Amino acid sequence: MWRSRDVISARDFTRADLEELFETAKYMEKYAKSRLDVLRGKIMAVAFFEPSTRTRLSFEVAMKRLGGDVVGFWGAEGTSVEKGETLADTIKMLDAYSNIIVIRHRYEGAAKLAAEVAESPVVNGGDGAFNHPTQAMLDIYTMWREFGRVDGLNIGLLGDLRHARTVNSLLEALANFNVRVYLISPEYLRPRAETIDYVRSRGLKLSFHTNVEEVIGELDVMYVVRIQKERFIDPLEYEKVKGSYRVAPDMLRNAKKSLIVLHPLPRVDEIDPRVDATPHAKYFKQAALGVPLRMALIYLILS
Ligand code: NCD
Repeated sequence: MWRSRDVISARDFTRADLEELFETAKYMEKYAKSRLDVLRGKIMAVAFFEPSTRTRLSFEVAMKRLGGDVVGFWGAEGTSVEKGETLADTIKMLDAYSNIIVIRHRYEGAAKLAAEVAESPVVNGGDGAFNHPTQAMLDIYTMWREFGRVDGLNIGLLGDLRHARTVNSLLEALANFNVRVYLISPEYLRPRAETIDYVRSRGLKLSFHTNVEEVIGELDVMYVVRIQKERFIDPLEYEKVKGSYRVAPDMLRNAKKSLIVLHPLPRVDEIDPRVDATPHAKYFKQAALGVPLRMALIYLILS
């Protein structure tokens, strides 16, 4: 089901695809700190035109743990893009040099364009404000590992739900499951209407809230994202909403004992560091699971 596929949008993956990925990722956890030599001789090209820490490193580590090699760049500095080379030409070269390409770009649609140009599979490591499908897979994988299931969970999404590509992809991927989603944000930062229409048409149960306290007691998962400053078109709008939410220990007083707090990271100030020491904090575990999850993804595509 995964073989040779591009990974561009979370909408392209079914529940069965995700379950196969999760089972494989669970198997890969045993090898996340060692080596499973199944992709020897294969090369991954990493083309990151936008900053990244976790996504890039976990893709690279995953490929190396599988016995493959990695080439690539981050930031266009030092590449021919600086001389004016087009994205399509850069991708054609990477395609010739490698077996799989992972791309991150500030513009929406860059990964799709790359997939059209390249014969090798292309994986979207985040483009623009809309798509970050592998992060969504990782987010749901973390829930599946923590609760042993996804169906039946009450999931709160908190923060900049409009510009965060992780939220958009997460909503699309969650539409495969029987969950309830609480969208908690200032009105201006609600997800795009197009996304809401899509997930509702797939039967996802949604409700809108501005106040965390109002729903905190119901949640099994609270997924927090930073206000995506770099994606605001109007800086005045940013000034209005910055610092709208901050998850602190007192906010969690009325939460279920089993509530888990997730965050794709990086965080700025939306989660008080004192939350890290509580049993609710699972965001560092989530980041760690990025390695086995991406090992599974690469393995399923390339093997
Ligand atoms: C996210 C991203 O780049 O979209 N980071 C990540 O991949 N873990 C989230 C963010 O930048 O806020």
